[in-house]
Amino acid sequence: MGKNVVVITGSPRKGGNSDILAEAFIEEAEKKGHKVQRFDSGRLKIGPCHACNNCFKKGKPCVFDDDFNAIATAVQAADAVVFSMPTYWFSAPSNIKAVLDRMYSFLASGKIADIAGKKAAILACCMSEDPAIMDDVKSPFIKSFAFLKWDCIGEVSVPKVANPGDVKNTDGCKQAAALADLV
Ligand SMILES: Cc1cc2nc3c(=O)[nH]c(=O)nc-3n(C[C@H](O)[C@H](O)[C@H](O)COP(=O)(O)O)c2cc1C
Repeated sequence: MGKNVVVITGSPRKGGNSDILAEAFIEEAEKKGHKVQRFDSGRLKIGPCHACNNCFKKGKPCVFDDDFNAIATAVQAADAVVFSMPTYWFSAPSNIKAVLDRMYSFLASGKIADIAGKKAAILACCMSEDPAIMDDVKSPFIKSFAFLKWDCIGEVSVPKVANPGDVKNTDGCKQAAALADLV
C-alpha cells in the first residue's frame, strides 16, 4: 500500500548533490506507489527555535509562523521522513538543523508520542574523502530518530562530491533509491 513520505532537503544549492540523492529516492518511492511531499529547507524561510514553549498554543506547531509549520504538519501525517543534506563545517546546514530543532514543538506541547512509529532515513554528502566526516552530520538526526521512536531504515553517506552532479559518478543514488524498498 502506498505510504505518505516526507522528504526534507537541506542544501541552498538547487540541483546540487544532496538534491540529486533526494530525487533518486523520490523517483523510486513514487514508482512504488508512495506519495512524496518534498520540502527544500535550504531555500525556505526557516528561523531558529526560540524556546518560547508556546508550541501549539495558537493552533499551529510553532507560533513563529514561517515555512516550518507546513513541514511539521506534513511530518505529523507522514509514515516516513527522509532527510538529505550536504556537510557544512562538519555539521548539518543551518536550515535543516533548525527544522530538527523546531521538532521540539512536539515535545514541549506533550505531543511527542503522537508522532512516534514513523520510518526515517538520512542521506548525506561531503567534499572530503573521509566518509567519517559525515558522522557528526548524521548523528543528531539518527539520535533524534531513536528519541522520537522512529525506525531508522537506512543512511547513505557519499564522500568526495564537491561540484553539483559529482554524486552521479558514485553509487549514492543507487543506495538512496534502494531505501524506497524499505519505506
Ligand atoms: C558552507 C559550506 C561548508 C562546507 N563544509 C564542508 C565540510 O566541513 N566538509 C566537507 O567535506 N565538505 C564541506 N562542504 C562541501 C559540501 O559538503 C559539498 O560540496 C557537497 O557536495 C554540497 O552538497 P550540495 O551540492 O547538495 O549543496 C561545504 C560546503 C559549503 C558551501
